[in-house]
Amino acid sequence: MNPIVNLTGKVGLITGIANEKSISTGVAEACAEAGATLVVTYQNDKTRAFIEPVINRLGVKDAYLMDVTRPETVSEVVDRIAATHGKLDFAIHSMAFAKRDDLHGRVVDTSPDGFALAMDVSTHSFVRLAKAVEPLMESAGGGSLVTMTYLGSEKVIPHYGVMGLCKAALEAATRYMAFELGAKNIRVNAVSPGPLMTRAASGIAGFDGLMAAAVERSPMHALVTPEDIGALTAFLVSDAGRLITGGVHFVDAGYNVMG
Ligand SMILES: NC(=O)c1ccc[n+]([C@@H]2O[C@H](COP(=O)([O-])OP(=O)(O)OC[C@H]3O[C@@H](n4cnc5c(N)ncnc54)[C@H](O)[C@@H]3O)[C@@H](O)[C@H]2O)c1
Repeated sequence: MNPIVNLTGKVGLITGIANEKSISTGVAEACAEAGATLVVTYQNDKTRAFIEPVINRLGVKDAYLMDVTRPETVSEVVDRIAATHGKLDFAIHSMAFAKRDDLHGRVVDTSPDGFALAMDVSTHSFVRLAKAVEPLMESAGGGSLVTMTYLGSEKVIPHYGVMGLCKAALEAATRYMAFELGAKNIRVNAVSPGPLMTRAASGIAGFDGLMAAAVERSPMHALVTPEDIGALTAFLVSDAGRLITGGVHFVDAGYNVMG
């Protein structure tokens, strides 16, 4: 076991596993390897079959349905964690959604409904999750929340559309919640990976071009993997990251520094 990143005795909630390729699969693997006990959520019954191999491999006992557009499913998960573990040390928010037209069309043309849906699932769900788990983290003497963002928050990435606005708000929420929850020893961070091919990414037009540019232009000429993201995230939620909060942490082979 990594002597610096030790999550033994910690209970963590991992959202957003759709399949083996999901970013949160890499996060779950890294956290399990570091000794954490994991509670995993999946969006609906259809995704359950795809996450089965992941939870079996990692020996996860608690896997629950949670659709962030259905508040009762979030409360149910929190209640189950309270009943089973009595505390929560960390929670990973790794979910996003926008309608195809809003992703690919002009931001200028986004409908009020499309904008609200994208913001609700991709951004405000992080705020709601933080509020829902705050008491469980207080019971643990503190905690750590991590969300997944993308460079499209600060730079214009063609075909990222409304999701760029969602990620900008998500990063601002990270800073504000870090301020608000810091006194309770609850840390809030965002991880910003470079592009990697996942189910969500496959819905973004021109994504192959983004990956090609990442290899060509990043200082390290490399593509990020779920394992790379898992390694950073496990560090952030561990005691090794105890004074790190409010930040956006890139894991992108340095692509973000290029002009
Ligand atoms: N793939 C990339 O290149 C990349 C880069 C930077 C950031 N991200 C971010 O990483 C996060 C995870 O995405 P991924 O790339 O692993 O793709 P993914 O498709 O594997 O995961 C997206 C997850 O969001 C979940 N989700 C969507 N709507 C939901 C809802 N209503 N309730 C509950 N869950 C819901 C899906 O079930 C899925 O598990 C997203 O926030 C994404 O924006 C991805």
